[in-house]
Amino acid sequence: MNVTSSITTTAPPRAEWTGQIGFIVSAIGSAVGLGNIWRFPGVAYEHGGGAFLIPYVVALLTAGIPILFLDYAIGHRFRGSAPLALRRLAGRLGEGLGWFQVLICVFIAVYYTAVLAWAGSYFVFSFDLRWGGDAAGFFTGEYLQVAAEPFTMDFVPGVLIPLVIMWIVALVLLGQGVVKGVQRANMVAMPLLVIGFVALVVRALFLPGAADGLDALFTPDFSALADPAVWVAAYSQIFFSLSVAFGIMMTYASYRKRRSNMTTPGLVVAFANSSFEIIAGIGVFATLGFFAYQQGVSIDQLEGLTGVGLAFMTFPAIAAEMPGGPFFGLLFFGSLTLAALTSLISILEVVFAGVIDKFGLSRKTVAYGLGGALAVVSILLFGTTSGLTALDTIDNWANNIGIVGSAVAMTVIVLWIRRGGRELGGHLSALSTFKVGRTWLFFVSVLGPLVLGYMLVMTVIGLIEEPYSGYDPTYLLIVGWGSVLVMLVGSCVLTALPWKNDPDDFAPWPALDARGRPIGATAGTRAARDETRGGAR
Ligand code: ALA
Repeated sequence: MNVTSSITTTAPPRAEWTGQIGFIVSAIGSAVGLGNIWRFPGVAYEHGGGAFLIPYVVALLTAGIPILFLDYAIGHRFRGSAPLALRRLAGRLGEGLGWFQVLICVFIAVYYTAVLAWAGSYFVFSFDLRWGGDAAGFFTGEYLQVAAEPFTMDFVPGVLIPLVIMWIVALVLLGQGVVKGVQRANMVAMPLLVIGFVALVVRALFLPGAADGLDALFTPDFSALADPAVWVAAYSQIFFSLSVAFGIMMTYASYRKRRSNMTTPGLVVAFANSSFEIIAGIGVFATLGFFAYQQGVSIDQLEGLTGVGLAFMTFPAIAAEMPGGPFFGLLFFGSLTLAALTSLISILEVVFAGVIDKFGLSRKTVAYGLGGALAVVSILLFGTTSGLTALDTIDNWANNIGIVGSAVAMTVIVLWIRRGGRELGGHLSALSTFKVGRTWLFFVSVLGPLVLGYMLVMTVIGLIEEPYSGYDPTYLLIVGWGSVLVMLVGSCVLTALPWKNDPDDFAPWPALDARGRPIGATAGTRAARDETRGGAR
């Protein structure tokens, strides 16, 4: 078949957020997720406590916010999902990177939904503190029924049912579209999350022992700053938490209207996300302080201070011991459910937008067809007894190799090979009140690739030298490195497939003068001429 002859040139109009607030709330909804509530407190505690805030703030200012701006500039200027926008900016190499980002989101989505389902289950269990006196045993035994062998796959109905429900909720919301589904869900969920989470933290601060918890979290260990692993942890935390470098913010920015301030909302999103993270750290450690006080031990003698253990073993155990435990459990798991749902929607939107743009399919077909297929994979992997090991392994590889690798590739392809720094910086500054200049360019084109490239190499060496979490090396090869291989091969295959609408029949939005008139319009394509005639929208 002659590929080019089947391409049509008129792409359907792109959905748009109703306004700046809808965008900001949705972007914060994406950023605030599991990364803030269960990842940050433990990572900070393990990497120098109060001293961790130094690499954390450095990572936020030198990589998190600059790359967030880069994502925004690419998505908005080239008006597309990650594969489309990067294709328009940097040709087929760019498109390949876009699909790599889509595939990272596929892998994250299948396990993220599992954690969301667990949070939903535990929200229900909180009413009668179903886990009883042995929260850890309940979680791995009665609830997950974790198998001794990682490849065993017997279905676990208690996980399967909430998992199916969460997939249905997410897919129905995404099927409704950007405004009616994604934006509306965020506008409802985010205020509830803020109220619920602030109530939880205030409650935690008044528990006996809370001050000891805060001491444990914030007492700085400055010697940690000499350890490169602490800096690596800070940068990974920022990327995952801020949803940058894996397509999310690029896709969300593509739905912004033409004349949109880009950088100021970016700063709002970044600081809201970090504030939520610090508040989560305070809430979690105040609660752990209470737990240690109850047990008559110090915080460093407690176990399960990170990730899955913290949320589904330690917190339930604490709720079982405190006055008003069910209410505390409802607030915690309700917050976790809302935060994870709004982030999951954004992760899946990257996948669906990429497929809609490339193959010209309707949103409903993609949401229910492709979304249904992803749900089946997620259910096979995580509705079964092998769930916990698979989740931990895929999480580690998708984040530390996938996202960091994508960030390095993006800075190299966009800024070194395509040399798009000035164009993208100009686009941001033309539209925004907060202008970006040489400092931004330095961070994204010099410091970013060097620091992130170093991090990536260190992580790969570490994973080769020592089996992750002590798991079987053959299992890690298949599930961990195998996931990355699937992402790489999959992005080549998807790039090779033909487009429904010609991705290159397009011109970036011309800059607007002070009166909103286009200046220096790029002539050439029909889309460009239409765009210029359309003027500011
Ligand atoms: N940014 C999302 C989180 O923190 C993915 O969980």
